[in-house]
Amino acid sequence: MAERHAQSSAHGYKKLLFLLFSITTLVFVFSWFFLLGSTGSPHLIEQTVLPNSKIHWTAENHGDIPSSENDEQVGHYFQDSTGPPEHEFSKCDPSNAVLKVFMYDLPPEFHFGLLDWKQEGNSVWPDIKGKIPDYPGGLNLQHSIEYWLTLDLLSSTIPDRPGPCTAVRVTNSREADIVFVPFFSSLSYNRHSKLKPLENTSMNKLLQSKLLMFLKAQEEWKRSGGRDHVILAHHPNSMLDARIKLWPCMFILSDFGRYPPNVANVEKDVIAPYKHVVRSFVNDTAGYDDRPILLYFKGAIYRKSGGIIRQELFYLLKDEKEVEFSFGTIQKNGIQQATNGMHSSKFCLNIAGDTPSSNRLFDAIASHCVPVIISDEIELPYEDVIDYSEFCVFVRASDAIKKGFLMNLIKGISKEEWTQMWVKLKQVEGYFEYQYPSQKDDAVQMIWQAISRKVPAVRLKLHRSLRFSPFKIR
Ligand SMILES: *[C@@H]1O[C@H](CO)[C@@H](O)[C@H](O)[C@H]1NC(C)=O
Ligand SMILES: *[C@@H]1O[C@H](CO)[C@@H](O)[C@H](O)[C@H]1NC(C)=O
Repeated sequence: MAERHAQSSAHGYKKLLFLLFSITTLVFVFSWFFLLGSTGSPHLIEQTVLPNSKIHWTAENHGDIPSSENDEQVGHYFQDSTGPPEHEFSKCDPSNAVLKVFMYDLPPEFHFGLLDWKQEGNSVWPDIKGKIPDYPGGLNLQHSIEYWLTLDLLSSTIPDRPGPCTAVRVTNSREADIVFVPFFSSLSYNRHSKLKPLENTSMNKLLQSKLLMFLKAQEEWKRSGGRDHVILAHHPNSMLDARIKLWPCMFILSDFGRYPPNVANVEKDVIAPYKHVVRSFVNDTAGYDDRPILLYFKGAIYRKSGGIIRQELFYLLKDEKEVEFSFGTIQKNGIQQATNGMHSSKFCLNIAGDTPSSNRLFDAIASHCVPVIISDEIELPYEDVIDYSEFCVFVRASDAIKKGFLMNLIKGISKEEWTQMWVKLKQVEGYFEYQYPSQKDDAVQMIWQAISRKVPAVRLKLHRSLRFSPFKIR
């Protein structure tokens, strides 16, 4: 009897297990169908490959659940950059913006004052519906990222502003995803790092220490320890004094060459392109056979530290007929020369100089001259969404200095392969273009999108840091 009882209860137990198993399976199958039904399976993959696809859903769909129609738009994103859809150019509703940004109203000496703009009235900002102060030209422009991002934020609250709606300025910092620090640090370095007569500290150093004092006193900085602050330091020497003290923040940089890894790194910070100085190649029909120079390089041959490789390459390549090595930095009529040179070349060399990055890469992209990158430590903008191997040739420095290696590699690239890269260059060049007003997926928008992809990681760090703070012993 006892045995039978045990048997039947074992039987009942099995039944129960089976029932549980069936229910679980059903639920699983249902949820799978639901998932497939709402997004379509190929898009699941796309979502992992293209982390910004969600951003586009929110931007284009105004917060609706993503539909497969929009997924397709995202898929086309990198294949077809011909003109944005019309509705992007309609009104920008801040509540649908990808990135909500709180910007400090820093005194003008930190930003437009450096452009010789004089404050009128109470506002620390110029009226951007009127004349916008110019950024100095020439090589200063390479690092003008600070200017374009700030202008875009200022214009983001103009009612009915046409243009993309990626980042929007909000006035309540508690609603913001990030806090933007509008210090034109590259310009401050370029213009004010030399001591003037009777000064014992340069204005560049002074501004940095003033900025530190300002930030440490702000409610926003105290709340986050600076983790959600975005600070621009595109010129490799900008923020030289303050950077170590600002390390929890998100830097916008050209590379990490002059930063200790704990102060700046690829997980936390955003790499922004240089603004190219050679002219864009508009309506470029100069294909493979129309570009007589095989390989082009313009720059200083002799550089400190990281640039040793330039000399070695120069001696390897100087007698090659189809190679043009020209010396000197790009200045005044040098820009015209470099423009002509790059527009007439199939490949453009980009070799590590004093720093791993250089403007030359972005000049090559604007010229549709396939970049050959010899810089092991280079960091590339938005590399999480762009595959540079589709339009650049990467060569390890250790290989490049082997006799014959580089020329054999380049000569081995067929006309068809080159043409594919040339076509791709024309598709991606817009992602590296700075302008005001900003356009869909230009450099300004791409940087905002790159920042927004870092926001979840910032929040995670922030929330972890807040675990033990709410209650204090009184
Ligand atoms: C610079 O000079 C001023 C007055 O001449 C002095 O008060 C200040 O301490 C000096 N600063 C430094 C960093 O030496
Ligand atoms: C490029 O082509 C377009 C259309 O054919 C034309 O309107 C424009 O003027 C051209 N631009 C230049 C710089 O040649």
